[in-house]
This record gives sequence, structure tokens and C-alpha cells, in this order.
Amino acid sequence: MIVLKGIFKTFGDKVALKDVNLTVNKGEALAILGYSGAGKTTLLKIISALDVDFEGTYLFKGIDVKKDPEKVRKCITMVFQNPVMFKGTVFENVAYGLKVRGYCKGYIKEKVDEVLEYLGILDLRDKNAKRLSGGEKQRVAVARALVLDIDVYIFDEPTSNLDIENIKVVEGTIKELKRKGKTVIFTTHDLLQARRLSDRVAYIERGEIVEVGETERVFKDPKDERTYRFVSGMF
Ligand SMILES: Nc1ncnc2c1ncn2[C@@H]1O[C@H](COP(=O)(O)OP(=O)(O)OP(=O)(O)O)[C@@H](O)[C@H]1O
Ligand SMILES: [Mg+2]
Repeated sequence: MIVLKGIFKTFGDKVALKDVNLTVNKGEALAILGYSGAGKTTLLKIISALDVDFEGTYLFKGIDVKKDPEKVRKCITMVFQNPVMFKGTVFENVAYGLKVRGYCKGYIKEKVDEVLEYLGILDLRDKNAKRLSGGEKQRVAVARALVLDIDVYIFDEPTSNLDIENIKVVEGTIKELKRKGKTVIFTTHDLLQARRLSDRVAYIERGEIVEVGETERVFKDPKDERTYRFVSGMF
């Protein structure tokens, strides 16, 4: 479904991604792991077709993303690490994606309320979204993705601001998306969470994908010394 070949991304002199080759299959959950600054968010922005200013080739279902990013954006949604709320209520924020896709009012109301209830934030429905706490914003951002019925869901550290109860809810959401056959790509600094949720892991260090493999294999028998150090917590 997703094929990245020889991707390079630079910010001035800084090489943020170096020759990234990665394939993501339909229906799998892939965890992207790595230290802060390794290039995870940079990579996710490219995968979600929000950033097409890179070297190399990215094919999404055979479409050359550089040539038609708009088409690909309709199939992928990304939940940001520090989500920005639009002006208006929580309801309006969550409804937005459905509205621009042309859904009727009745369906939007039903779907948004269902997702807010599922995520335990129905009580925030009519609040000003810009005034929410960090954890509340994070759950609203997850709701914005969850109301959409699309192919790929990307979560950049979706539980970093959440307490244990809400971590469970968001992890349940990812499992439910997988059960529905959706493709999920996420980053986390919580290695146990990666083990709980992902089918495969990609370990990235200094912009390079060091190792990709089935989750348990990577954790129990990493092939690369750098992966070994990371998964065993050595510095
Ligand atoms: N817009 C930008 N301009 C300049 N440098 C950038 C920009 N975005 C990212 N970088 C740099 O690229 C590198 C990778 O950043 P990125 O945000 O992808 O890291 P990350 O793995 O997501 O880290 P974290 O775990 O802290 O979120 C970092 O060194 C960062 O400073
Ligand atoms: Mg990041």
C-alpha cells in the first residue's frame, strides 16, 4: 500500500531522513520507534502526503504522491503530536472532516457524538476547543481522525499527554481500527505500548531506518547493534 524508496529530507544543512526505504502493508499496524529528533515526525508527514518536498519516490497504492498529493491526502489522516484546534467548539472540530467531505448534517451529528462518547469526551462537545487541556486536545484530535472512514490512520505519539485510563481508550481505538482492517502507523516512546499494538516495528536513528521487522522478533532478537541498544534501554 505504501512504498517509500530512497527518501531523503533535509532542513538546510540538517539531514533529517537518509535513504529511507519502507513498505507498509494494508491492514497492518506499524510502530515507528526512535529517540527524540530521530526523524519520526518528519517521516510521518511525508507518509501522510503533507510534505512532498523530499528526494526519492513515494508510491501510495501505485500513485506517485509527488504528482498527486491531494488524492493521497483523502486516504490518509494524521493525528499530530501537539494537535492544533480550529476555532469553534469540540463538535465543530470533530465534524470538520466530514463536512468538507460532503456528509449530510444528520449523519455528521450521529457519527461525531458516537465517537465523542467512545473516547469519553462527550461532555466536552460544546466547549471552545482552543481552551482545552493538552490531554483533552489529544483526544479531540483522535476523534477528528476516527470519524473518518479512510484507509490509513497515522498517530504521532497519541498517548504522550494522557493518563492511564485514556491511554487504554486510545490503545483500544488503535486495536479497533486494526480489527476493521485499517492500516495504522504510529510512533511512541513507550516500548511496551509498541509491543502491545504493532505487528511490525521500524527503528529509526539519526534519520536512518536501522531495522524493520515483526515486533516480537525485533524486541527479542534485534539484528542491528543500534536496535539492540535501543530496545534494551542502553545508552
Ligand atoms: N521544520 C524544521 N526545520 C528545521 N529542522 C527541523 C524541522 N523539523 C524537524 N527538524 C529537525 O529534524 C530532525 C528530526 O525531527 P523530528 O521532528 O522528525 O524528530 P522526532 O523523531 O519526531 O522527535 P520527537 O521524538 O522529539 O518527536 C530534528 O533534528 C529536528 O530538529
Ligand atoms: Mg516527533
